[in-house]
Formats: sequence, C-alpha cells, structure tokens
Amino acid sequence: MAVVIPALLRGFVGAICTQAASSRLTPSALRHLTLSSVMKSKRKTDHLERTADVVRREVVSAAKVCGAAHESPSVKRLRLLVADKDFSFKAGQWVDFFIPGVSVVGGFSICSSPRLLEQERMIELAVKYTNHPPALWIHNQCTLDSEVAMRVGGEFFFDPQPADASRNLVLIAGGVGINPLLSILRHATDLHRERANKGRGYEIGTIRLFYSAKNTSELLFKKNILDLVNEFPEKIACSLHVTKQTTQISAELKPYITEGRITEKEIRYHISRETLFYICGPPPMTDFFSKELESSHVPKEHIYFEKWW
Ligand SMILES: *[C@@H]1O[C@H](CO)[C@@H](O)[C@H](O)[C@H]1NC(C)=O
Repeated sequence: MAVVIPALLRGFVGAICTQAASSRLTPSALRHLTLSSVMKSKRKTDHLERTADVVRREVVSAAKVCGAAHESPSVKRLRLLVADKDFSFKAGQWVDFFIPGVSVVGGFSICSSPRLLEQERMIELAVKYTNHPPALWIHNQCTLDSEVAMRVGGEFFFDPQPADASRNLVLIAGGVGINPLLSILRHATDLHRERANKGRGYEIGTIRLFYSAKNTSELLFKKNILDLVNEFPEKIACSLHVTKQTTQISAELKPYITEGRITEKEIRYHISRETLFYICGPPPMTDFFSKELESSHVPKEHIYFEKWW
C-alpha cells in the first residue's frame, strides 16, 4: 500500500512511528488517573471542571508521540499515533489528555482532519505555552515515543452526512482558537475532494476563514491554510488579521493580511440562510460575534461557538 504524505505533514520534524502504541487503558488505570486529577485540581480553569457537563466518548486510548515541532515561538505542535480503532472524532472536537505522572488532565482541540486518523492513525495538536501542567509537560518534557492517553469530547463540530443540504461555512478564529476550525476546514476540503473524485458525497458550499492573531508569527498554520486556499480558490477564501504587528509583513504574506481586528461588518456581509458560523477564540471575542450574528437574525442553530482559554 502506498503511503501518501499529506501536505499538512510536510516539514514536520521527527521520526515516523512504525510501532503502534499499545492498546486501550484498563478501566482501573483510567479511574485512578481521572479521580486523582479531579480531586487535586482546585483551579476553576481546569479542563475537567469546565467541561464536566459536556458529552464525552467512553473510549480512552493510548497514544504515542510521533513528531513535535514549533508552530510559533509559543506554540508546539504534536503528532500522535493512536492504534486503537475505536478511537475516532468529529472535526472540531477536543481530547482529554492524560499524562502519566501529571495529575492535571489537559484539554486540547484536535487540529488535524478525521481522514488523517482513518488513513494513518494520526492526530495533531497545537499547544500554547502556559503554566498549566499539561502544557508545561508538552513544552518541556514530552519527547518522541512518550506515551499518553486520550478521550474525545465536545459538542462543537462539523459532521455533515452525504445527503444533508449544502451549506456555506464561515469560520471565525482568534489565537489558538484556530485549532478546531483548522480541523473543520481540512474536513470540509476532504469532503470536497471526495465529491470531486467520486461524483457523490456531501456537497460543501463556500468556506470563508477569518483568523486573527497578535502578529504574523503567532498566525498558526498560515502555510497550510494558504495551500488550501490556493488549491481551491473557487471554494475557500481566508482573511488573516494581525492586531499587534510591530515588524514589516513579508511580501509573500502581505496580500492575505489585514492590520486590525476582524470587524462585524465583514462578517455580516457573509450572512445567508445557507451559512453556518463556527466561532472559536477568547471568550470576549466569541461572545461578541455570536451576539452580533444573533442580532442580525442568524438562527441560533446556525451559530456554533467554543470558548477556549
Ligand atoms: C510576535 O510577537 C512575539 C511575542 O511578543 C515576538 O516574539 C515575535 O518576534 C513577534 N513576531 C513578529 C513577526 O513581529
């Protein structure tokens, strides 16, 4: 079987794992991990407390770190191999991230597409440096072949079925909020490719990404995003914003970049009955755009948002 290396993996440093990470965690090992984490975490900001009411899958699967690279000065990207065939996710969902010896459980959105998991048993995460123990572990201690465990959860996803009505997507991202939206963008692109190749399957409308970050080095995945835009210019457009740029913007990036935040005016321009809005960013930004859309009479069931921290 030929192994196709998708564009998103190009330039990724680190060895390809050949050996599958060992299977499922035993229930008692998991119970221990989970209980000790819940009991020890006092801060309100902990992922398990914040998401206590959110639907999760039952499966907890072992995973092995197969690649690591810096995506920006403060964000590290990980590639993980998950051999367990019962582990699956929908574009936009996150994982509970269990680290041996670390009592706090992490929560990270998956930025790769469901197809990458189906084809290569891989997922990707991009994690910002913070003092939160799971993020510290990823930045300072995690190495190739480190083993962790993961469980999928979350109600923020895009998972249309083949016969569903065609929809346009407007994706609005702030900072690391790009992660689940990149997964959705990649999934939408995969669906579009499939339909082009097979002549059947879900028909996606247009996709428009609005993405804002502090400066061009904190605009994550810009190469991956621009590759998709250039591959399907009739389907995908992006508008990249920087709010605190202090250096000059390179000629290559300049055509895609706007200085200043995303405005309600440019979003409002894309409102239609066939459009779904997905918003992920800092809470004030997420609130602002979801309220703005509601006051412009976009039905609530067409507005999806996730607040990240
Ligand atoms: C963006 O900001 C970070 C952190 O302040 C800084 O290290 C980096 O050099 C900046 N990048 C650009 C292109 O200005």
